[in-house]
Amino acid sequence: MIGRLNHVAIVVSDLDAATKTYRDVLGATVSEPQALPEHGVTVVFVDLENTRIELLVPLGDGSPVSRFLEQHKDGGIHHICLEVDDISAAASDLQAKGARILGDGKPKIGAHGNPVLFLHPKDFHGCLLELEHVGG
Ligand code: CO
Repeated sequence: MIGRLNHVAIVVSDLDAATKTYRDVLGATVSEPQALPEHGVTVVFVDLENTRIELLVPLGDGSPVSRFLEQHKDGGIHHICLEVDDISAAASDLQAKGARILGDGKPKIGAHGNPVLFLHPKDFHGCLLELEHVGG
């Protein structure tokens, strides 16, 4: 079912500082900040040869990453995103196997314009998993 690693997402306490670290210390190509109000985050993409890293900070009230940052003051790895070629089929299959989809259970449009959904970390050994639809 799962394909390539699409990204690793890291919640940071200071997006400008994190951007500078990846760009100036590590020499990576980084994007401009992108506000995603429907996900409650502002994102910077770090482009790597084989995948990318997303640096996240909370945006607005009730951001899903605010609580994470309260618990991890310096930030930390928040989720990994795996590609699937049919997110609806993947969602039905996973639910049939007892996995819980966060939120209303329906895919939302993610940072790259593709449908995404998140799976409960308790069902995946402590790791929040995002699935991103990359099929046609
Ligand atoms: Co993500």
